Amino acid sequence: MSDLDLQVKQSLQRVSHQFSDAALKNAQLNDQEKFAFKTKLESTPIRMRIELTNECNLRCTFCYKSYFNNKDKLQMSLDVFKKLDPYMKRAKFLTFFTKSEPLIAENLKPALEMTADYGAVRYFSTNGIPLTREKSEWLVDNRLTFLQVSVNSFTPKEYAKVYRGGQLEVLENNLKTLNDVKKERKSVFPKVRISMCGTKESIVNIEDGIRFAKKYQLEEGVQITPFYELGEEHDGQTYEDSPEFFRSYYERGKRLANELGVPFWIISDATNPDGELKYCYDPWESMSIEPNGEVFPCVVSNQSMGNVNKQSLDEIWNGPKIQEFRSKVNIPTDDQNEECKNCLNCHVHKLKTATNTARPLKTFAGGYYRVKN
Ligand SMILES: C[S@@+](CC[C@H](N)C(=O)[O-])C[C@H]1O[C@@H](n2cnc3c(N)ncnc32)[C@H](O)[C@@H]1O
Ligand code: SF4
Ligand code: SF4
Repeated sequence: MSDLDLQVKQSLQRVSHQFSDAALKNAQLNDQEKFAFKTKLESTPIRMRIELTNECNLRCTFCYKSYFNNKDKLQMSLDVFKKLDPYMKRAKFLTFFTKSEPLIAENLKPALEMTADYGAVRYFSTNGIPLTREKSEWLVDNRLTFLQVSVNSFTPKEYAKVYRGGQLEVLENNLKTLNDVKKERKSVFPKVRISMCGTKESIVNIEDGIRFAKKYQLEEGVQITPFYELGEEHDGQTYEDSPEFFRSYYERGKRLANELGVPFWIISDATNPDGELKYCYDPWESMSIEPNGEVFPCVVSNQSMGNVNKQSLDEIWNGPKIQEFRSKVNIPTDDQNEECKNCLNCHVHKLKTATNTARPLKTFAGGYYRVKN
């Protein structure tokens, strides 16, 4: 999910990046327009979230993929990808996934090649299992900026139980190979981090995660992201269920990371009061595109704003649907968009009561519908 955006902001405090003049100029205008809550924008998105496929090779127990399904298995065609070009050239961030597994996307390689010189920070999140040597070479040769590898469990038995369809040994070998390719090509890219989705079961592995990042020289270290419960089996697994328990492990994590010199941070740290009362600017800053060309205003809303196969990017970005949606994001009244009232993306949106439960959700952005409670 878009926690990755926050994480990239963190990483950019350490890693300098030369954005194109066009992207910087566009971002400046975008800032002015979003703070004024304009609904019609002259600027284009500063972030393009591009779902290259909606498939995944795994079915992790904590993930919505185990609770929601979508009618069609989709791969983004090059034709659709190329339609995004004018906006990609002015964006600061290109995210090559939203909710699925980008390493099994048919057009990942051309997508990386086409955008290598655009000057944007480019990144994606993966379970790392499909990362063959050949794919590592695509990432290194095309200078992907950041790669996030999702892993919560650090023993083969637990990993296989949680990351259904995956094996820890495969992931570890793939990370070694990626490091070899970076060394051979004398490249520092992609900069790698692991992301641990913090369930009550997995948070006890926090120190193992930090040692794992150290062992595989993952320069961007470890991040902890909040867990959203999706079904009955997730009862009692969130931070809010046991804040003291989570906080004690956060402290252990901070201590060890400091000792080992591993970058470490907790996204949406519920212990941080600054996480309260923020406006959401997602539909001003970002465009989220599904493999079939459908455009969504953010990664949560399931309302399509148009399709790049039928309309131009400009027609969608400033069309009546998105203008109405923007006008109803940051108003804490009954008129607020339904999905904003109970937004899962609570790190950006705590105007009212944020929630860490997705259990009432029947659908999800991108045409997903619930198959299990
Ligand atoms: C949906 S996955 C898609 C990308 C890729 N397959 C991966 O696992 O990194 C993106 C991120 O969402 C996180 N995630 C999955 N289920 C979640 C849940 N119920 N609550 C919070 N984050 C979740 C994963 O840990 C992963 O880091
Ligand atoms: S690998 Fe990623 S998308 Fe696939 S089931 Fe696991 S968390 Fe979900
Ligand atoms: S607050 Fe609304 S616009 Fe923002 S991420 Fe949530 S659903 Fe989307």
